[in-house]
Amino acid sequence: MPKIGNIELPDFPLLLAPMEDVSDPPFRALCKEQGADVVYTEFISSEGLIRDAAKSVIKLDIYEKERPVGIQIFGAELDSMLQAVDIVEKSNPDIIDINFGCPVKKVVCKNAGAGILRDIPLMVKLTEEIVKRTKLPVTVKTRLGWDSDSIKIVEVAERLQDVGIEAISIHGRTRVQMYKGEADWRPIAEVKNNQRMRIPVFGNGDVDTPEAAVKMRDEYGLDGAMIGRASIGYPWFFKEVKHYIKTGEHLAPPTMEERVEAARRHLQMSIDWKGEKLGVFETRRHYTNYFKGIPHFKEYRMKMVTSDDSADVFAAFDEVLEKFGDFQFA
Ligand SMILES: Cc1cc2nc3c(=O)[nH]c(=O)nc-3n(C[C@H](O)[C@H](O)[C@H](O)COP(=O)(O)O)c2cc1C
Repeated sequence: MPKIGNIELPDFPLLLAPMEDVSDPPFRALCKEQGADVVYTEFISSEGLIRDAAKSVIKLDIYEKERPVGIQIFGAELDSMLQAVDIVEKSNPDIIDINFGCPVKKVVCKNAGAGILRDIPLMVKLTEEIVKRTKLPVTVKTRLGWDSDSIKIVEVAERLQDVGIEAISIHGRTRVQMYKGEADWRPIAEVKNNQRMRIPVFGNGDVDTPEAAVKMRDEYGLDGAMIGRASIGYPWFFKEVKHYIKTGEHLAPPTMEERVEAARRHLQMSIDWKGEKLGVFETRRHYTNYFKGIPHFKEYRMKMVTSDDSADVFAAFDEVLEKFGDFQFA
């Protein structure tokens, strides 16, 4: 069974991917309830943490019920990253994850995120120092390389392992690809097949059906799957994958009642965590998926995503249950 440091995981664990403005404590808790084995926070700026920027610091919050949880940090300055590690440790996460995969311009232009894939010695050095700084297990999330001409992920993963990381998650795209095209899991399998690798190698990118997860395990031989977009507004995805892996059969999709209940709890937890205004605003992105596939739903979705008052959103949930309670999801 794979392990991250001393954290024992089940066979072929499912990890919730770090996702900005998505992987917050309420959403992570819902995913954990539905079978995610490890959850990660969204990326947190090391510079922001040092400045004590409220926006970064609130991202350190974790609930006991979501453990094991990894806090993900990003940056390219050694000093800032080490100070960030000290700050992160005070929140008592189970894992510290380093983001070497974010493709957005404002991050890569500072050599952070996937930007560091152009400077592998710096990537290795930063990782080595972070591992030395903390007693927590350190994991890395990265991409295949900067572009298709510079894919050296087998060598990179081995070097990161040699300086002490406890697991690696690899998104099967290059930085240049951003989110275009299909994720290529073959180079991730090459990392796994490297005889010198002994840490878990988790695959990421386009795991959007239970079949895809099984393929990642059986055809590519990876140790687990990290799941991002397929879980947005659909935390049941983890349970569905696990059920399929165990039985070879598809679980029936959640009923309308279960969906409304999850949306209600999600909104309530968000309000409890970050207050009425932000709670209402930041839960909006999930509703489309919670209620996907219902015909003539626009009027209700509009209420959910335009109301500023949570009472109106809760009322919209009640209306939906009353009107579409018997809807059969495909
Ligand atoms: C909205 C959104 C936000 C993301 N934010 C982060 C992030 O903060 N840190 C990170 O390492 N990756 C981030 N990613 C990338 C995902 O973790 C993941 O690598 C990518 O979505 C591919 O996996 P998927 O096909 O399962 O979604 C983000 C992706 C999305 C869609």
